[in-house]
Amino acid sequence: MENLEEKIIQADSLEALERVRVELFGKKGILAAQFAKMKDVPGPEKKAFAEGLNKQKAALQQAFEARYETLKAEEIEALLKSEAIDVSLYGQVAQKGALHPVMETMDKIIDYFVALNFSVEDGPMVEDDFHNFEALNLPKYHPARDMQDTFYFRDGGLLRTHTSPVQIRTMLKEKPPIRMIAPGSVFRRDYDLTHTPMFHQVEGLVVDEKGKVSFANLKSILVDFLHYMFGDVEVRFRPSFFPFTEPSAEVDISCIFCEGEGCRVCSHTGWLEVLGCGIVDPNVFKAVGYEDVSGYAFGLGVERFAMLMHKIPDLRSLFEGDIRLLEQFR
Ligand code: DAH
Repeated sequence: MENLEEKIIQADSLEALERVRVELFGKKGILAAQFAKMKDVPGPEKKAFAEGLNKQKAALQQAFEARYETLKAEEIEALLKSEAIDVSLYGQVAQKGALHPVMETMDKIIDYFVALNFSVEDGPMVEDDFHNFEALNLPKYHPARDMQDTFYFRDGGLLRTHTSPVQIRTMLKEKPPIRMIAPGSVFRRDYDLTHTPMFHQVEGLVVDEKGKVSFANLKSILVDFLHYMFGDVEVRFRPSFFPFTEPSAEVDISCIFCEGEGCRVCSHTGWLEVLGCGIVDPNVFKAVGYEDVSGYAFGLGVERFAMLMHKIPDLRSLFEGDIRLLEQFR
């Protein structure tokens, strides 16, 4: 019976050992066959025969268990090896996103005006001549309509060059009083350090009964707004011209880089231009059929604000999608 134990020892896998188990200990196995021989053994020898057989069975079972333990341990060992994780390798840290600096700036601007009960209005990016120019008192042949600036479609449609057409759309669909802002993307044929073909503006418009809205109102709200955005800066209103406002002004803040001393960013003037504004031109009200009202309007470029707030030197870098730039604004 030596060779039976040999069978167990030579089983080189758990599957092979299982086959040996059936062969030896199974119902129709070798041991069962040995026990079956009992009935042929003469009476007096039965006891010794049975004892011998049981001993042998016990020995085989022991050998089986020992082999099983060994093979099982080997299997676990192999599994551990194949599934081993090298904890010294760098893991992949989950990437956390962040708002793009332009959107973050936009949100900050919107928050200010929403807190003052301004509504947030929307309009199409593909505009027509009437809303983008005509109704805003931008007559035909006005330089702003120049092919150099505006993206035109063959059918005469165009990509809005500013968010001012949303003023017109809002006034056409609502009655005064109006207190609104219109944030959104605008498009111009321009590309250099401070211009990209797409950028963002926030437009503002307040309209109420004649005499209720003054330049003083406009001034106080914009000064407060610019302090909210830039902190403790000086604010200056400079006479200017826009077709849709009269009088018009451009608004400067004292340079946040040199605090008015004069530097490259402010072209050594000590001032940074940040927005345009004015009292709504009567021709604009005429175009939308408003009578006996007064109003003020303003418009600003969001990228310009973002660049100043974050000291970003090249506007184009905001739109290249370079994760190394964006990561700095987390
Ligand atoms: N639409 C002007 C632009 O794109 C910005 C602007 C200036 C808007 C003065 C206004 C305003 O509403 O009153 O440059």
